[in-house]
Amino acid sequence: MIADDARLDALVAAAADAREHAYAPYSRFKVGAAVLTESGRVHVGVNVENASYPCGMCAEQSAVSAAVTSGDRGIDAVAVVTEAVEPAAPCGICRQTLYEFNPGMTVVLANTAGARRVHRLSDLMPHGFGPRDLIGT
Ligand code: THU
Repeated sequence: MIADDARLDALVAAAADAREHAYAPYSRFKVGAAVLTESGRVHVGVNVENASYPCGMCAEQSAVSAAVTSGDRGIDAVAVVTEAVEPAAPCGICRQTLYEFNPGMTVVLANTAGARRVHRLSDLMPHGFGPRDLIGT
């Protein structure tokens, strides 16, 4: 699905709405994510922390899990919303998780104050490792 401006606006809004449900009692840093898939559907996710800290899950991973669980795999764009002063970029693990489903996807970083930055995933993670690297192994 072409990630035009209207779709990206809707994607950011979906991520911001989902963010309200984030479970972040330890960091207090709530994150909402939304992915737009080739089929035109939007899947959301939030960070889900745990008393055993390493068990926590990032919002982007939750959103990718929701998409794959419902049968959607091709991801055209992702929006990530936080309350950070500068819109926060996905962590390294989340970049890798997203890279699997389209290195060229659009990444919209937004904050609750309305600031926004748009990147291409392959620019945030150049020379990444993906499914194609496994061919021939
Ligand atoms: N977090 C995300 O949800 N996505 C990221 O890309 C970076 C960090 C979460 C993990 C943790 O619950 C909180 O933000 C603080 O690191």
